[in-house]
Amino acid sequence: MNVLELIKNRRTIQSFSGDPVSPEILRNAIDAAIWAPNHKLTKPWLFVEVKPETRKKLADEQVALKQKKAAAPISVVEREAMIKKFLEPATLIIAAIKKSGSTSQLEEDYAAMACAIQNLSLYLWSEGVGTKWGTGALLASSITYEILGLKPEEFKLCGLVWVGKARVTPPKPPRPNIEEIFLSR
Ligand SMILES: Cc1cc2nc3c(=O)[nH]c(=O)nc-3n(C[C@H](O)[C@H](O)[C@H](O)COP(=O)(O)O)c2cc1C
Repeated sequence: MNVLELIKNRRTIQSFSGDPVSPEILRNAIDAAIWAPNHKLTKPWLFVEVKPETRKKLADEQVALKQKKAAAPISVVEREAMIKKFLEPATLIIAAIKKSGSTSQLEEDYAAMACAIQNLSLYLWSEGVGTKWGTGALLASSITYEILGLKPEEFKLCGLVWVGKARVTPPKPPRPNIEEIFLSR
């Protein structure tokens, strides 16, 4: 696959098979990630591979956060579905950036993390492995930081990066026409 095809064919995966991903491929993916551009060479990245027992704790916190927002109690079926979603993919990586003093640096470091996650995702896709970058309330929860043993004053959690073989590859979602977003003035 050439690079343009790889970029266009990569999809965000919602349903993973659970088949393992080799440690070598995972390591290469992190290596690809850290070759992303990063302004002032801050190298802000931190990746945490989340163990199954830790994933269960994160899933429980996700359920608790959903319950706080929900009008009615979450059913056992819903709860189990949410936990399964956390445990099924082969790998979960939490992507974080080291917090620097300034807001502008934090913004640029988040951009460097976005580039890193895209590198990782494209490399994995080239190896037949899918990813999903997830965000949401779980990443802002102090309990999540506690579970991961990270301090919120030192790190900003940027993503839950799910990694694994796709059970289903979704169709291409639409993108804008190039004429609409590439201007000449
Ligand atoms: C910063 C960021 C956060 C995202 N968070 C989520 C998320 O929480 N849940 C999700 O299903 N997809 C999430 N995505 C993936 C997008 O929904 C996905 O890229 C988009 O639907 C286009 O699909 P594609 O990646 O297959 O082209 C996120 C993507 C980015 C860049």
